[in-house]
Amino acid sequence: MISKQTIDKIFSTIRVEEIVGEYVQLKRAGSNYKGLSPFHDEKSPSFVVSPSKQIWKDFSTGKGGTAISFLMEIENFTYPEALRHAAKKYGIEIEEDQREFSEEAKNAQSEKDSLYKIHEIANDFFQNFLWEAEEGKSIGLAYFRERELKDDIIRKFQLGYSPEKKNAFTAYALDKGYNKEILEKSGLSIFPENTPSGVDRFRERVIFPIHSFSGRVLGFGARILKNNVKTAKYLNSPETEIYHKSNVLYGLNQGKQAISRKNVCLLVEGYMDVISLHMSGIENVVASSGTSLTTEQIKLIKRLTENVTILFDGDNAGIKASFRSIDMLLTEGMNIRVLLFPEGDDPDSFARKHPQDYVEKFIENEAMDFIDFKAEILLKEAGNDPIKKAEAIRNIVKSVGFVQNALKREVYLKEVSNKFGLSEQSLFNELDVQKQITQNQTQYVQQKENAPAKMEIVPLDEDKGDPFLYDVLFMESKLVDHMLMFGDVVLNRKDEKNGEYQITVIEEILHHFEEENYEFLVKGNEIIINQVKEGIENDELRSGSFFVSFMEEEITSKVVDALIPLDELENWSSRNIYPPNYGDKIAEQVEGDVLLHKYRYIDYLIKETGRELDEHRDNDEVKYFELLKKITLLKQVSMKLSDIIEYSPIKGIYGGSKK
Ligand code: CTP
Ligand code: MN
Repeated sequence: MISKQTIDKIFSTIRVEEIVGEYVQLKRAGSNYKGLSPFHDEKSPSFVVSPSKQIWKDFSTGKGGTAISFLMEIENFTYPEALRHAAKKYGIEIEEDQREFSEEAKNAQSEKDSLYKIHEIANDFFQNFLWEAEEGKSIGLAYFRERELKDDIIRKFQLGYSPEKKNAFTAYALDKGYNKEILEKSGLSIFPENTPSGVDRFRERVIFPIHSFSGRVLGFGARILKNNVKTAKYLNSPETEIYHKSNVLYGLNQGKQAISRKNVCLLVEGYMDVISLHMSGIENVVASSGTSLTTEQIKLIKRLTENVTILFDGDNAGIKASFRSIDMLLTEGMNIRVLLFPEGDDPDSFARKHPQDYVEKFIENEAMDFIDFKAEILLKEAGNDPIKKAEAIRNIVKSVGFVQNALKREVYLKEVSNKFGLSEQSLFNELDVQKQITQNQTQYVQQKENAPAKMEIVPLDEDKGDPFLYDVLFMESKLVDHMLMFGDVVLNRKDEKNGEYQITVIEEILHHFEEENYEFLVKGNEIIINQVKEGIENDELRSGSFFVSFMEEEITSKVVDALIPLDELENWSSRNIYPPNYGDKIAEQVEGDVLLHKYRYIDYLIKETGRELDEHRDNDEVKYFELLKKITLLKQVSMKLSDIIEYSPIKGIYGGSKK
């Protein structure tokens, strides 16, 4: 684990404009920089970097954050991976926090490190042998060339060759000072009783290194050169401390950027399929490499996209086995399409036969949704047998049942209904039956999930949603934005109780929320406010810059939105004032917005209480009069507030309108 001090050091050293500048051409615009979004094709720049606030904001996709979160987005790093990457760039030494690790855990960590290291050594060894040694060139390289792989693609995938000699690599590694134990643990060498010099696992094979998400070598796949030999075509690394094959997808490291840019991931079976597609310019592809797809693998894809297109050979025997993968993908909330290549072709041969355009169009046009795909396979099998046909439909409906989103589920069910000329009702019934079955199978009830969710969606369109509620949400967010933008600004206030006094924006707004006993309605705001409170208890003002590095995506993007408002895109030249728009009007602005929030909140409460009142009018007299009293009080407060707003000096800000 990276120590807290190191994290602080990284954040205080790195410059967002420098890190982003490696990926985006930035031009100065006032006090900021702007450029074309790297996450979206666009002609006019909507990507802003603020050196003073050390954040970026992409208005075309709504993303934004720190230099670290930028690296996470663009390289698809995890948080620690992004930190390590940045540290390396700035020459910051990473201090590991060892305190909470036991001796055993420390050893495990260093064992993992040596496993990574030995794989790196082996990867270099196999590649050097392919390119430099006579045997490598005449056998390994010749093999790849025969399969029409270009040199740059061989290098890109770091393909290699393992010599015929029994212990070539083992001897090399021992000579370099690596011990037998780690060689054996890595699966790269075996030390039989009577052979102290060891034996290499991979011999006379071409080598496909298998990389982690961020590009570390975890293991190898190795293909035999002749097709007619009896041993297995591919020999793979065994499971080790660093290689868990259910957790790895071949090609993910090389394809991750294309996958997220194109927002779809092609799923193939083999190493060669991935490589050939890359060679024809199609890079958004991964292979499950012979194992059936796992949930962990799906989660890896989901970091990049929710759309998967499965590519099958035309004569693939495992197609029906793939039905399980389809259901798993649906369960994880993915959108799936499936493509069958013409008989005799696999993605590898198809990609080498046709130009990129053609392959892309073919995938685009021929891929079916999972319903059509399953229907095609299952109905062909069923022929005219009505019982088998019903079975097939039931099988398809079962897959629809795995679709997590209710709306999508309904759309799919409609599709099934149209396709087979069945009533939607009967399909719904079937779905219910299936659900019942699965529910009985898995007996647990997730009570928590059934509890009413807190408001997640802010109605943006005033006409839809409840306008009273919208007003409150809007002002609530505005107040939180004020806290983030200029929370530490000190206001000079005066009132009858306290006389003249000074108070920060954060304290003033916080005080207001507490006074109202206000329950936050917009997701995320409560987290921010609780952090602010905790800060105050620790004598620390937690404003925008604190939350920017808070690393909870939802919060960060909210904060960045507040710190770089949309109008930063326009009026570039006048962007030298901080805070924007408000100038020295902060005091009035905050006072006015607090009042307005209060006023709208009370309006909302009046409306809600009114609704309750109607409910109890005829059935609960006590409750009814209680509510009547409440509403009267609320209305009095509302009147008073409307007077204050009308006659207060802040009126100017709101153009005199009461609401
Ligand atoms: N595989 C494996 N062990 C085997 C056979 C296959 O691990 N004995 C895995 C490999 O990851 C392989 C994938 O399953 O890439 C698909 O198998 P296949 O289609 O036979 O291999 P291709 O990648 O198509 O290899 P080639 O075109 O070189 O025959
Ligand atoms: Mn093949």
